[in-house]
Amino acid sequence: MRITKERSKRPSAVFFIGEPAGNVYTSGALRSRRRTRRSAARHPALRTFFSEASFSPMSSFPVSSPGRSPEEILRLRARHLGPSLSLSYRTPLKIVRGEGAYLFDETGRAYLDCVNNVCHVGHAHPRVVEAACRQMAVLNTNTRYLHDHLVDYAVRLTETLPEPLRVCFFVNSGSEANDLALRLARAHTGGTDVVVLDGAYHGNLSSLIDLSPYKFNGPGGAGAPPHTHVAPMPDPYRGPYRRDDPSAGAKYAAHVAEAVETVRASGRRLAAFFAEPILSCGGQIVPPEGFFRDAYAHVRAGGG
Ligand SMILES: Cc1ncc(COP(=O)(O)O)c(C=O)c1O
Repeated sequence: MRITKERSKRPSAVFFIGEPAGNVYTSGALRSRRRTRRSAARHPALRTFFSEASFSPMSSFPVSSPGRSPEEILRLRARHLGPSLSLSYRTPLKIVRGEGAYLFDETGRAYLDCVNNVCHVGHAHPRVVEAACRQMAVLNTNTRYLHDHLVDYAVRLTETLPEPLRVCFFVNSGSEANDLALRLARAHTGGTDVVVLDGAYHGNLSSLIDLSPYKFNGPGGAGAPPHTHVAPMPDPYRGPYRRDDPSAGAKYAAHVAEAVETVRASGRRLAAFFAEPILSCGGQIVPPEGFFRDAYAHVRAGGG
């Protein structure tokens, strides 16, 4: 087995597994699929997934033809899609399907997917596919009507959360969730300002680009708007306070307190602190012990 690694623009990696599978999609796909299943059989979590997947008719939707060549797709993208939609890798991948933790290109080569954050329970999970197909065939509407599923789901979800988290707003994406959280925080506090962590990405709506140093300090970005205050990334690997410092969490949180104080001193009002529990675009950083506890205390003391 050959393993190579390419870096994406985001600091995550895609690992190639397996050999090039030739041009014939079906045989390549089958070979990769067998190899994937063999390696999956060694991992208990994947074993469950693949044993479910292999018995589901939904897992074998055919990808019928090889489709357009990568060159033609690139030409059509250039003509019909906005140029700000970036492509990953020097030689972009043509991915035709996903299964479990793997993506497959048009030759059937399998890629262990360390990048995609869309399918939380793996690509094409048979139970998710089956439930979505079933519901699409019955009803697709919104929350203005009474429906069993809406309340059933809210009850089941909130049973997994600590008090006082018992009210749900259902949205379609992380961006909508964060935008709504911002609106709720502003309505509740009467404030406008937000403290964020350096390197963060919180979504693609205008309100969230404004809270995302990864974007507003990135290519084409306009810098932080006046209502956004950036605290340093609590990075115990490369930051000023490292893993050997037992008070690193408190020290990084003290920078959040400084940002809160900047809001107060400028006569503005704090609404919220936005942070990813693990900083993804920042480099999959796990903040040090105690950071969030102390940061939340500073933010609450500052009215957020
Ligand atoms: C940390 C984080 N927050 C928010 C979002 C936005 O989510 P969505 O793409 O579902 O709008 C993303 C998406 O990559 C994300 O990584």
